[in-house]
Amino acid sequence: MVAGINLMQETKSIRDVEIEGKRVLIRVDFNVPMDSDFNISDDTRIREAIPTINHCIDNGAKSIVLVSHLGRPRGKSSEFSLKHILKRLERLLNRSVIFVESLEGVSSVMATLPQKSVILLENIRFLEGEEKNDEKLSKNLASLCDIYINDAFGASHRKHASTYGVAKFAPVKVAGLLLKKEIDSFAKALASPLKPVLLIVGGSKVSSKITLLSNILDVVDKIVIGGAMSNTFLKSLGYDMQRSLVEDPLVPEAAKILGLAKQKGVKIYLPVDVVCTDDIKNPKEIKITPAQDVPENFLAADIGPASVKLFSEVIRDCETIIWNGPMGVYEVQNFSRGTFQLAHVVADTYAYSVIGGGDTADAIDRAGEKDNMSFTSTGGGASLELLEGKILPAFEVLERK
Ligand code: 3PG
Repeated sequence: MVAGINLMQETKSIRDVEIEGKRVLIRVDFNVPMDSDFNISDDTRIREAIPTINHCIDNGAKSIVLVSHLGRPRGKSSEFSLKHILKRLERLLNRSVIFVESLEGVSSVMATLPQKSVILLENIRFLEGEEKNDEKLSKNLASLCDIYINDAFGASHRKHASTYGVAKFAPVKVAGLLLKKEIDSFAKALASPLKPVLLIVGGSKVSSKITLLSNILDVVDKIVIGGAMSNTFLKSLGYDMQRSLVEDPLVPEAAKILGLAKQKGVKIYLPVDVVCTDDIKNPKEIKITPAQDVPENFLAADIGPASVKLFSEVIRDCETIIWNGPMGVYEVQNFSRGTFQLAHVVADTYAYSVIGGGDTADAIDRAGEKDNMSFTSTGGGASLELLEGKILPAFEVLERK
């Protein structure tokens, strides 16, 4: 894992190349959450792309083309149009941005625009070739630039035309400032961390975290497991978890991870009590019980107060904390307490804390602690793959120092 991270850290960035007079194409991740009226509920990803765009403007780029996806459209659909984010982008950049619907449109617009113009291309996933990493689309994208910049950490685990294929044809290909910041922040936690190192892992499925757990045992000293995935581990200890979400086929795998951790001297902490209920959405009853005493027909939906206390002590004892996955159903108020309380404890430590993107970042934000973490990733799937020890495709194709 450490070798892969070091390799990704060697990627050249926009600070290593001459931008003056060059046409740049920046792959950004403007895949932001919106309500049904297209109001953006969290614009972090747009904000985080601004330093790279401003760097290109300030260093005299001839033109700046921004390429992003939004959602997972099947073909063209106005619901997924990037025009919904245009105003916010213009406000954050404090300048006007030209919205262009097609690749052909970009070339003709570029020929007529003044120096340093910023162009936003319509959702790249409207084009069939994007997710297929199509060679023709990759070439067409590369033809729009002298320098290709990838700043879309959130999409850096995707082998798509705009994140991967384009680099083969672009004359110069480097990382943006966000891509750099992400990899350097993870490196600080994984490659050269202050010890002890703690992984807090949660979420609903063990299946999605198996690779992470097996690979991270060489890097961390302690692991706290919460969320529904802890049920599978508790079951492997012989507990009857009743109606709780358990991935039965993975019970032996969970037992194997516990054994492997023991061999490697990594301490694993599981919930000692749980908040359980008869129904998550419409609960008639909510009880706090020891983890081995979930009542018949109940299911665990959050870690209990004794687990919060135990996990808090573990957290306070660590110098580096990596957190991926919530401790319970944090979107439902009754079952959010475990996640939120741990968020406050992590925020109060002096440890270096790295928060995975997606659900984890959302939970920390709802707990009001986003600004109190050392670093919160903008990538959900991407940060998970990084923690699994993979070299992310987007980094693979960029130039190295
Ligand atoms: C994300 O939201 O994790 C990124 O924007 C990637 O989106 P995707 O999972 O649809 O590729």
